[in-house]
Amino acid sequence: MPQLNQISQRERLLTADGLSKAFAGVHALQEVSFDVRGGEVHALLGENGAGKSTLVKVISGVLRADSGEVRLRDEPFAPRDPGASLAAGVGVVFQELPLIPDLTVMENIYFDRQPLSPLGTVARRRMRARTDELFASIGLAGINPTRQPRDLSVAARQLVAIAKVLAADPDIVVLDEATSALGPSEVAWLFERTRALAAAGKGIVFISHRLAEADEISDRVTVLRNGRNVGTWTAGEISPDGLISAMLGRRLEQLYPEQHNTPGDETVLAVRELAAGRRLHHPDIRLSEEAFSRMYDQKTAARHWRKWRHNFRLLTVAQGRALITLHPQTSDTATEEARKVQP
Ligand SMILES: Nc1ncnc2c1ncn2[C@@H]1O[C@H](COP(=O)(O)OP(=O)(O)O)[C@@H](O)[C@H]1O
Ligand SMILES: [Mg+2]
Repeated sequence: MPQLNQISQRERLLTADGLSKAFAGVHALQEVSFDVRGGEVHALLGENGAGKSTLVKVISGVLRADSGEVRLRDEPFAPRDPGASLAAGVGVVFQELPLIPDLTVMENIYFDRQPLSPLGTVARRRMRARTDELFASIGLAGINPTRQPRDLSVAARQLVAIAKVLAADPDIVVLDEATSALGPSEVAWLFERTRALAAAGKGIVFISHRLAEADEISDRVTVLRNGRNVGTWTAGEISPDGLISAMLGRRLEQLYPEQHNTPGDETVLAVRELAAGRRLHHPDIRLSEEAFSRMYDQKTAARHWRKWRHNFRLLTVAQGRALITLHPQTSDTATEEARKVQP
């Protein structure tokens, strides 16, 4: 884990200063300041509706801020659209994938930048070779560049969207909920890429509603709540409890009244109604150990499982909707109740 002084000494690649953006009375961003440094993975956390995607859209030219400014290195940065943003070195993998279903994978990746023959026509063979090279260089296997996104799984489409951004070799890569459609091995692939990019001096903004993922990958973390930046911390400087409290704006003890359970042999993972957001109407949900391990790759699952199994609470956010707690099953009644509600 890099120390604070190391991060603060790194070059500030992108700086957002006092950004505000309102939609018909909804203050999506209020005076948000944020920066991304070379060589860091900066997690951006917050509940659904906190303003994360809006921030990314303002930075990349999808939306105009009402006030505030963004600087790329020392220059004002106001790209007219995401293509211009990418060309200037700020690549965003958007939460809503902007792939064009009628084009092939490779045409999507090199959209706007297709290699041309001397006659000015698209050099398809060269584009194919370039895509093969790209996929090989980033370790992406099993996606046929000549297929159309509509024929691919959601996960494969997500991988293509990531590859499209990486193909332009940007200095800053923003991943907005890029893991939500991915399985454990694909997330592992993305983390490996992310680490390699950071090691090469790029700045990465990692947006996820899975707190455990952010915890695993990030050097710094910024929390947005109701359109405001409520804090930026270096990894290790804030506990997962602290992060959740920052996201929800309440102390964790208020969310989890103290339970005097003793660790039993059998443990369960439970998602509990925690009023995480106005739209949350969620019953308690029990997840089996197996279901839990499916949420992570095995190594991470094992690590988290060991780390938290005696702690009574697992500090992660499930589907951006509720908190997950890990607690021992202490009685048959609890088991019985847990059985009534299935994931
Ligand atoms: N195009 C839009 N029109 C109106 N409201 C929007 C629009 N985009 C976002 N919002 C609102 O702005 C707030 C922030 O949304 P968003 O940035 O998508 O949050 P997040 O990505 O953190 O879940 C939410 O209240 C959302 O409903
Ligand atoms: Mg979003």
